[in-house]
Amino acid sequence: MKKEPPITMRLFALSLSAAFALVCSGSASAVDQPIAYNHYKHTQELELECTMCHTGVSTQIRATLPSAEICISCHEEPVTDSAEEEKIRQYYAQNEEIPWKRLFQVPEHVFFSHRRHVTVAGLDCAKCHGNMATQKKPPKKAPMAISMKACMSCHRKLQAQIDCVSCHR
Ligand code: HEC
Ligand code: HEC
Ligand code: HEC
Ligand code: HEC
Ligand code: HEC
Repeated sequence: MKKEPPITMRLFALSLSAAFALVCSGSASAVDQPIAYNHYKHTQELELECTMCHTGVSTQIRATLPSAEICISCHEEPVTDSAEEEKIRQYYAQNEEIPWKRLFQVPEHVFFSHRRHVTVAGLDCAKCHGNMATQKKPPKKAPMAISMKACMSCHRKLQAQIDCVSCHR
């Protein structure tokens, strides 16, 4: 078995690389999604379940973003005259996935599981994702920031693990 350096060493290396990343990234640029998808319409008016598109959210580590196949199941024929809707059929016809961009992402050194939080702990999406489900167009930045402070404060409140290695694996 490969021997891991002690956790203190790994976390020290981590803080150096985090400081480096901070210096290099500058200000986060606005996110432009390939299609003007409307969460409000699909989840509030049409009352679709989150799991229809984020298929891993209650059973897997990752929630996942929807494949063109999921969208085409309702959009094979036009249901509106929107040019944005037409884009779904173009991606699908070209056998391409829709290149959605991520808004929420933890660094590689952090372990996070949706199943654990959504199914085991029974937490609402909004606790960590803010008002994402009622957005009428894709937000340019995450409506809520992910931070170690936010993870820790809930873990303290609900008496979940707070030792470094439970999240930094
Ligand atoms: C279960 C069926 C269903 C699925 C799955 C679905 N849609 Fe829709 N979508 C609809 C219906 C119905 C409308 C028309 C709503 C209306 O305006 O009456 C619509 C409207 C739209 C529109 C038109 C513009 C607007 O927002 O009103 C776009 C764009 C769109 N959907 C994109 C998507 C994308 C992208 C996906 C996949 C991530 C998707 N839809 C998945 C049913 C669905
Ligand atoms: C019909 C498909 C569909 C349904 C249903 C749906 N979403 Fe989404 N979701 C998307 C698409 C497409 C994106 C990426 C575009 C965007 O940002 O709007 C997305 C992005 C997200 C993101 C940001 C993910 C990231 O980091 O990139 C969150 C959080 C989210 N959805 C939460 C929800 C919640 C909560 C529900 C249920 C209340 C829900 N979604 C239902 C299609 C869907
Ligand atoms: C306890 C906090 C928390 C809860 C509750 C939560 N999420 Fe997340 N979500 C996150 C974090 C953290 C990430 C980034 C994970 C990563 O980078 O691996 C994320 C990422 C996502 C993504 C981006 C794609 C992906 O595969 O990870 C989607 C979509 C998403 N969440 C949807 C949802 C939905 C829908 C719900 C409710 C059913 C939900 N989340 C509940 C914290 C949460
Ligand atoms: C709103 C509350 C809340 C937030 C925010 C939250 N968690 Fe949790 N988390 C929990 C609860 C409750 C559990 C215990 C679930 C169980 O009973 O197994 C848990 C469990 C975990 C576990 C499993 C620990 C173990 O036993 O091995 C990890 C890892 C974890 N969370 C990581 C994160 C990370 C990373 C974040 C921030 C990105 C985060 N959590 C944000 C409530 C939260
Ligand atoms: C509940 C989950 C969780 C626990 C427990 C946790 N962290 Fe974190 N940590 C995160 C998340 C999420 C990030 C990335 C987001 C951020 O930088 O705020 C992070 C980032 C970091 C970073 C990188 C950069 C920075 O911005 O400072 C260091 C270093 C770090 N953690 C050290 C620790 C140490 C030391 C402990 C134990 C005392 C610890 N973490 C416990 C979730 C956790």
